[in-house]
Amino acid sequence: MKALILSGGKGTRLRPITHSMAKQLVPVANKPTLFYGLEAMRDAGVREVGIIVGDTADEIKRAVDDGSQWGLCVTYIHQPQPLGLAHAVLTAEPYLQGSPFVMYLGDNIVKHGVTEFVQEFERARPNALILLAKVPNPQDFGVAELSGDQVVRLIEKPAQPKSDLALVGVYLFDSTIFQAARAISPSARGELEITDAIQWLIDNGKQVNAKQVTGWWKDTGSLEALLEANRLTLEDAEPLNEGQVVNSQLSGRVIVERGAQITDCVIRGPVCIGADSVLQGAFVGPFTAIGRRCRLINAEIEFSIVLDDSHLENLSARIENSLIGQGVQVKGGSRPSRTLQLMLGDHSAITFP
Ligand code: TTP
Repeated sequence: MKALILSGGKGTRLRPITHSMAKQLVPVANKPTLFYGLEAMRDAGVREVGIIVGDTADEIKRAVDDGSQWGLCVTYIHQPQPLGLAHAVLTAEPYLQGSPFVMYLGDNIVKHGVTEFVQEFERARPNALILLAKVPNPQDFGVAELSGDQVVRLIEKPAQPKSDLALVGVYLFDSTIFQAARAISPSARGELEITDAIQWLIDNGKQVNAKQVTGWWKDTGSLEALLEANRLTLEDAEPLNEGQVVNSQLSGRVIVERGAQITDCVIRGPVCIGADSVLQGAFVGPFTAIGRRCRLINAEIEFSIVLDDSHLENLSARIENSLIGQGVQVKGGSRPSRTLQLMLGDHSAITFP
């Protein structure tokens, strides 16, 4: 069994962050999303991992290197253009060499990992095994209709869903998937869709099984989903204090990484504060992850993610539901003001709730 982790793509839904950063490296609870996938492979005992990379290849390579920090053997596979998940599968055909494989979308997090599904695939040996999760809004997902544990139909974003079982970003395949991916045509959005390839397997009498995930699963490709993944991950985090906390009130699960300094603050967990960050007179509310070397001086924030080296100082309003990039400066004056001075990158978004 090999693994194929997809870390190419365009990441348009996470602009402007993805103008300067691979979306798979955006941290959830201060750890790059992609690392959760690599850990899932390690835990499932899959050692040989191919990572599909595109424009952000250099950055992904720098972060993951040869994979030895997880005990993995990583090979990079360049996809010249993000022409769809099934196109990524075809691009990886020479690497996979007919081996069965677990395909994992690099921007997804599956709470309980993939071990159970790898074992189930090896036991039953279907042509494909897909993972499903019950969702309240199936019209926003690829949805599967089942007969027993066999999949009979996949529908992309159905207007009138007959099932509430959405496709999770993890799939197990044997080599018949290459035949399927070659047989299909690009969709209306110009991509070779993995759902079309799996539907081809079903229509051609191949065995496609499904299994429901037990814990939570999140695709972190949009702001709402990323913040939600951050919330769910922080809820499971173990409190830890490796920094310096002075005259501050910490409650709930709070992680203070090495070298962080917290003075005159109120921190309500679950929260993590990255290494060497300085917080003074700040309020940090639940489900917030602050990166490394940040400064929060007289600022209030909750349900948000702040990436490394950002400064939030003297703010008259509380920041919430926000994603703040790397090296960002948000600075208020000495008095509350109705005027804003902005220098925002392309596709930035500011909302006054
Ligand atoms: P998506 O989130 O479906 O696509 P995207 O990354 O282009 O994002 P957006 O819709 O915001 O523009 O991709 C899921 C995962 O698969 C993600 O980790 C990127 C990766 N991917 C590839 O590696 N190659 C591809 O051709 C595509 C479409 C995605």
